[in-house]
Amino acid sequence: MSIRGLKNEGKNKICIFYFSGTGNTAWAVGKLAEKLRVLDYAIKLIDCEDEIDFISEVECCDIVGLAFPIHSSYAPKLFQGVLNKLPNCKGKPLIALTTAGYMAGDVLWYTLKSLKSKGYVPIVFSNIIISNNMHLPVLCPLPVTKPNKLPKKLAKAERKIDKMVNYIEEDMLHIEGANPLGRLFGIMQRGIAGNFESLAFKGFYSDESCTKCGWCIKKCPNNNIQMDNKGVKFLGSCMICMRCYSFCPNHSIQMTMKTKNLKKYKRYTGPEGKRR
Ligand SMILES: Cc1cc2nc3c(=O)[nH]c(=O)nc-3n(C[C@H](O)[C@H](O)[C@H](O)COP(=O)(O)O)c2cc1C
Repeated sequence: MSIRGLKNEGKNKICIFYFSGTGNTAWAVGKLAEKLRVLDYAIKLIDCEDEIDFISEVECCDIVGLAFPIHSSYAPKLFQGVLNKLPNCKGKPLIALTTAGYMAGDVLWYTLKSLKSKGYVPIVFSNIIISNNMHLPVLCPLPVTKPNKLPKKLAKAERKIDKMVNYIEEDMLHIEGANPLGRLFGIMQRGIAGNFESLAFKGFYSDESCTKCGWCIKKCPNNNIQMDNKGVKFLGSCMICMRCYSFCPNHSIQMTMKTKNLKKYKRYTGPEGKRR
C-alpha cells in the first residue's frame, strides 16, 4: 500500500534521530543510511546525545527517522525525552527501527503512537534483532552475545535492513509489532519490567581496580557519573544502557560482587568490537 505518494517526486531527505547504548543501534542506522544513500536518498544521522535543534531538523527533512534499542519493551529514558521534544508537523512520514537481543513485540507502535497526534504518519516500523548486550547476576541467566556469534547475527540483521530499505523505496506501508501477538508480548513485558528491574538491578559501582581515568564520566549518556574524592560515584538517573559496564577500559564497573568474575559475566564487546 502506497502511503507517501512521493514516489515519483524524486528522492527524499531523511533525518534519523537515534540513541545507542553499546553500538547496535548505531550500527543498524549506519547500515540503513549506507543502503539508502546508494539509492540517492539524502540521509542525516543525528545522535541524540548531541545538542539538537529539533525544529529546524524536522522542518528541513521530508521523512523523519527514529531508532533506539529495546529496554524491556520500552524506549530508553533518554529517547523518551527526545520524543517529547519533536515538534508538531503536518503529515510528515515517519520511519523507525528498534534493535533487540531476542524479541521485539510492539515497542515501536507503543512508544511512537503519541507522535500521530503531533502530525507524524508512520510508514515503516521494523524490529531488528541483533544481539544481547544485557545480563543480570540475579533472576536473568541469559548471557550477552559472544563475539564469535556476532558475524552471523549481523548478517541476518543486515538482511532485515535490506527489507526495510525496500519498503521505503517501494513506498509500502509496513508496521511491525502492532498485531495481537506483538501487543500481548509488549503488555506482559511492560507489566513486569519495572518490578523485575528494581528486584534484579541495584545500580552500578566501580570496584578497587578503578584507575579514575574518567572514561565512564565522559561517556555516560545521562551525565549520571561523577568523580569525588572517594572515586567514581553513580547518581540516581542511570538508564541501564550498559555502556560503562560493557566498555570500562579496566572492567572496573560492577553490578554486584559476582560480576567481577569476567569469565562468567563476560562484557558485551559491541557489534564490531568497537567501544561507543
Ligand atoms: C535494560 C535493558 C533491557 C533490555 N530488554 C530487552 C528486551 O526486552 N528484549 C530484547 O530482545 N532485548 C533487550 N535488551 C537488549 C538490547 O535491546 C539489545 O542488545 C540492543 O540491540 C542494544 O542496543 P544498543 O547497543 O544500541 O544499546 C535489553 C537491554 C537492556 C540494556
